[in-house]
Amino acid sequence: MLTPAQIHDLPKVELHLHIEGTLEPELIMQLAERNGIRVPWADIEELRRQYEFTDLQSFLNLYYANMAVLQTEADFADLTRAYLRRAQAAGVRHAEIFMDPQAHTVRGVDLATCVNGVASALAESEAEFGVSSALIVTFLRDREAAEALTMMHDLIEMRAPIVGIGLDSAEVGHPPIDFVEVFALAREHGLQCVAHAGEEGPPEYVWQALELLQVSRIDHGIRSLEDEVLVDHLVTHQIPLTVCPFSNVRLRVIDTLADHPLPAMLARGLAVTVNSDDPAYFGGYLDDNFMALTDTFNFGAVELATLARNAVQASFLTADAQAPLL
Ligand code: HPA
Ligand code: ZN
Repeated sequence: MLTPAQIHDLPKVELHLHIEGTLEPELIMQLAERNGIRVPWADIEELRRQYEFTDLQSFLNLYYANMAVLQTEADFADLTRAYLRRAQAAGVRHAEIFMDPQAHTVRGVDLATCVNGVASALAESEAEFGVSSALIVTFLRDREAAEALTMMHDLIEMRAPIVGIGLDSAEVGHPPIDFVEVFALAREHGLQCVAHAGEEGPPEYVWQALELLQVSRIDHGIRSLEDEVLVDHLVTHQIPLTVCPFSNVRLRVIDTLADHPLPAMLARGLAVTVNSDDPAYFGGYLDDNFMALTDTFNFGAVELATLARNAVQASFLTADAQAPLL
């Protein structure tokens, strides 16, 4: 049985973490007060009672609503620092962090305000918290691809400090094929590509993400298991899947953690990694996910080392930067 200290010391890398999903109720209330914004909740307890989800959309509704308190560059920087502090406590060594700029620009926040706020905190992450970091901008697939394309051009023009792009938000009915042009432009500019696929959507979306968007990682991807040819492909090419156990349970993709296919995915030879997705909403950070998996599946040092190593190798760190973590 592994102890919390052993889980802490595992060299953990987080590859699927939405910075807006780290917005804790306490910070929502603080920022609301600081910015003079009225929230519909009387207090933190009432807000916490909203954190019961029936599916991805029911979560997204609250996730986007709560972002109203994020207004200034300092708000985005404070949010990011709060995450980095918690990541340090969890023993996270490197984090590749998603942000959703469209969720902010649609409500009148400048692109530069949100990107620079997050990026300014990430620029100090290693010195301040001992966590190296990289930023990935994710586009909202339930909005027009033309809007994403315009923003991609804007990000290139402003030389945004990003390593890659991704695709998230409501999946079903919004296939990767709609975003081919956006991802081609990103690739032309040397950016890495990832996409959420096979969370609620079918295996076909995972194929599209791989073949049309040419992503190097699949975020979630657990519905890939429904397509044996796809599983073979993912194993053969060792395409990383950034799996998020707590998220899958809280969004009812899986009934309980004990029903999670992660052990079967590992046994099948898939390049599985463990991630926290939106930890403020789903009941825990990366260390909590690892601890719960250990308890539920009786994982030992070997399984945990495999999961940790998979994440290092799936990261966008150079081989030299990966070496000390392996
Ligand atoms: N899926 C899709 N979009 C998201 C998620 C997720 O798990 N979290 C934040 N945006
Ligand atoms: Zn996600």
